[in-house]
Amino acid sequence: MTDKFARLSIDGSDEVTELPILSGSIGPDVIDVRNLGSTGYFTFDPGFLSTASCESKITFIDGGKGVLLHRGYPIEQLAEHSDYLETCYLLLNGELPNKQQKAAFEDEITQHTMVNEAMARLFRGFHHDAHPMAMMCGAVGAMSAFYHDALDIANPKHREISALRLIAKIPTLAAMCYKHHIGQPFMYPRNELSYAENFLYMMFGTPCEEPNVNPIIAKAMDKIFLLHADHEQNASTSTVRLAGSSGANPFACIASGITALWGPAHGGANEAVLKMLDEIGSVDRIDEYVLKAKDKNDPFRLMGFGHRVYKNFDPRAKVMKETCDEVLKELGISDPQLEIAKRLEQIALEDDYFIQRKLYPNVDFYSGIIMKAIGIPTDMFTVIFATGRTVGWIAHWAEMVSESYKIGRPRQLYTGATTRDYQDIDKR
Ligand code: SDX
Repeated sequence: MTDKFARLSIDGSDEVTELPILSGSIGPDVIDVRNLGSTGYFTFDPGFLSTASCESKITFIDGGKGVLLHRGYPIEQLAEHSDYLETCYLLLNGELPNKQQKAAFEDEITQHTMVNEAMARLFRGFHHDAHPMAMMCGAVGAMSAFYHDALDIANPKHREISALRLIAKIPTLAAMCYKHHIGQPFMYPRNELSYAENFLYMMFGTPCEEPNVNPIIAKAMDKIFLLHADHEQNASTSTVRLAGSSGANPFACIASGITALWGPAHGGANEAVLKMLDEIGSVDRIDEYVLKAKDKNDPFRLMGFGHRVYKNFDPRAKVMKETCDEVLKELGISDPQLEIAKRLEQIALEDDYFIQRKLYPNVDFYSGIIMKAIGIPTDMFTVIFATGRTVGWIAHWAEMVSESYKIGRPRQLYTGATTRDYQDIDKR
């Protein structure tokens, strides 16, 4: 309950509608408009610029201060001290695991990394040059055609089984997308390898040799998964919640998240950043592209810049940039695109247009450069994002379906034709 209210009087009417103001543990209060419909009015907020769609305990973002907390733990501390599977446990269960819990969770995941052998035949049906994200949409959606023995979403055990299956099998499916794309045999997961090592082995290993994963690259891969794990009610997570609100099975819901993530304004931005850096080509062409980004008549945007919530540095971008420097230095790679990226960041952060609009580098700005340095092909970047984000999607889905929820059904402002009678074709 609350003792704070927003009072709404419409069009000078004496009638006042009281709307409760609700407070969270941190962050802005919200005006509860659930009963506003009784006034005959709806709220209108395309793109949800000012709308909180749900209550959640999973992730908190303060866009003004560049703060990102997962179950209260700052992303910087998790990136430095934790690893991806431990962060998965935290997001799913709300607390960091103790040693026994962590070992048991890692073992559970390891034991579920293989996919049903018939899924290999599914991939054979994809055109060899299909975009890996197209294959991921299909393969993850198809998981409900194979793992339908635990789809009672009201059953906590079934929810846990599906969550484990998704976290364990998504890297295997992601690597299968890549192997099919390049015409190489699928690699079976290896139980002696860590999560990130296993993914890199399934991506780049071949039947002709034993696993040989560079520990520096595996550590960077694990950090990339960790930094992408969850991010509050972003477009793809909101898609998962909306799909889940109809009672759809978790595999279908996660597949809907993958489709939403694909867009260049969202998870497709990392691939778009590399394409942009390729197009800029050299440091001396940056000014030309910054002008294009500022030109309202030019659809070009600086990919990897700007964020709906962060009006300060994206804390993930800072960690990603540090990791980028470390990986390139440790691998002895000097990538001219990194020089273009650093110079572009410096110019943009000094330019009034970007300063006024608080456009800072986001998580996608540096992630593409690291992924390129560790050998991930550009068209796999968003697949990597989806692989890391799967746990966040599942955590939000499970949080919603484990509590009482209503089907998401927004209304609209209708501006189409008013009622009119049908005209016979010979009168049109
Ligand atoms: C992710 O939501 C999340 O949390 C997402 C994410 C996650 O982890 O899930 O963080 C991951 O998707 C990061 C964002 C990746 N996308 C990009 O890097 C694509 C480039 N960025 C933009 O498309 C844009 O900044 C968005 C989509 C990220 C945010 O768009 P908004 O909040 O709707 O802001 P807007 O488009 O209304 O822009 C506000 C102003 C506009 O100018 P004015 O009309 O006010 O004059 O800023 C301008 C825009 O033209 N602007 C840019 C710009 N981004 C915004 N101008 C040039 N280059 C850009 N990148």
